[in-house]
Amino acid sequence: MSDMMSYFLLIVGCVIGIGYIFHNLFVKGNRCTSTAKLHGKTVIVTGSNTGIGKKTAITLAKRGARVILACRSQQRGEIALAEVIEVNKLGRSKEVVFMQLDLGSLKSVRTFAENFLKTEDRLDLLINNAGILLQGKTEDGLGMMFGVNHIGHFLLTNLLLERLKTCGPSRVVTVSSVGHNFGKIDFKCLNTHKALGTGTSFWQTMQIYSDSKLCNVLFTHELAKRLQGTKVTCYSLHPGAINSEISRNSSNVLKALLKPITAFFFKNTEQGAQTTLHCALQDGIEGLSGRYFSNCTVRDLYPKAKDDVAAKKLWELSERLSGLV
Ligand SMILES: NC(=O)c1ccc[n+]([C@@H]2O[C@H](COP(=O)([O-])OP(=O)(O)OC[C@H]3O[C@@H](n4cnc5c(N)ncnc54)[C@H](OP(=O)(O)O)[C@@H]3O)[C@@H](O)[C@H]2O)c1
Ligand SMILES: *[C@@H]1O[C@H](CO)[C@@H](O)[C@H](O)[C@H]1NC(C)=O
Ligand SMILES: *[C@@H]1O[C@H](CO)[C@@H](O)[C@H](O)[C@H]1NC(C)=O
Repeated sequence: MSDMMSYFLLIVGCVIGIGYIFHNLFVKGNRCTSTAKLHGKTVIVTGSNTGIGKKTAITLAKRGARVILACRSQQRGEIALAEVIEVNKLGRSKEVVFMQLDLGSLKSVRTFAENFLKTEDRLDLLINNAGILLQGKTEDGLGMMFGVNHIGHFLLTNLLLERLKTCGPSRVVTVSSVGHNFGKIDFKCLNTHKALGTGTSFWQTMQIYSDSKLCNVLFTHELAKRLQGTKVTCYSLHPGAINSEISRNSSNVLKALLKPITAFFFKNTEQGAQTTLHCALQDGIEGLSGRYFSNCTVRDLYPKAKDDVAAKKLWELSERLSGLV
């Protein structure tokens, strides 16, 4: 082998080695340490055909839960269903179920909830995980990210709340993002356009995504207040920066730029599911209902993300836009 070649291999080896150590030290993050078993419990995970939702569903099924994969595509949902059963060696078990749910359609959310309440008798955990990074409109004319990331989950949670209450102690876990820190809620725009913003440039799209993730945090803040005195608790969280399909609708240039970065600096989806699992399973966090977690740890929020007035206003507007009142 030529010297050049050996040096080259040595350098590649070092880069991979350092990357590996770096990944383990700084990227991987904490793991959910709960050993809770979930036999006899029923959980719903939205957007569980891929990404961290799928890994969350796999772990919950492994722990014995009855898992409802709530996904918008029947085809992708059924492929995921087969995978969850396969990796957990559940064989012919009927404990993992696909149910169609398009969060971008109020009608679909209502149909899902009716179907679920009719065919299932419990609900112990609702994991609002699905999310989209794409500007546009839902079939009800809501801004796409506002409609899917927030309103769809808002309506779903409300329609299932009575069931959660009867099955308490139960939990609602909503996957937000650290990006909520850059978010704002433009109530004027919401009132006139049923959207958090109307722009479609890259930065405007990122802004509206962050806005929708702030909605997730404020929703959880207000929900906790409304759940006081019940046995239902709720949490929002940042899962980490994860190598998933979330940027599937971004430009190809951006995707190409992100690829090498995501490989080393982003968590894989299994690592990305850990904070969701922590919020879903960890004993003793009931007193932290309404709070926000990251890296399996409760975090402080900026005032705008725990603003009582904004949270209540968003809740009341969401009731109207989702047709709840
Ligand atoms: N990846 C990150 O770095 C990161 C960082 C912070 C927060 N998050 C949040 O983590 C959550 C999970 O994202 P991920 O990274 O796992 O992304 P992902 O791989 O893109 O998965 C997103 C899931 O949401 C589903 N979904 C999208 N629109 C839907 C709709 N209208 N109705 C029902 N399901 C819908 C997708 O279904 P289809 O396959 O049918 O599209 C998919 O199953 C999201 O809430 C995201 O905002 C991610
Ligand atoms: C998560 O927290 C642990 C300690 O609690 C820390 O060592 C690690 O660097 C953190 N990881 C991330 C990705 O924040
Ligand atoms: C978003 O990406 C998915 C997967 O690549 C694709 O099927 C879908 O058509 C894209 N949507 C838009 C509006 O670009």
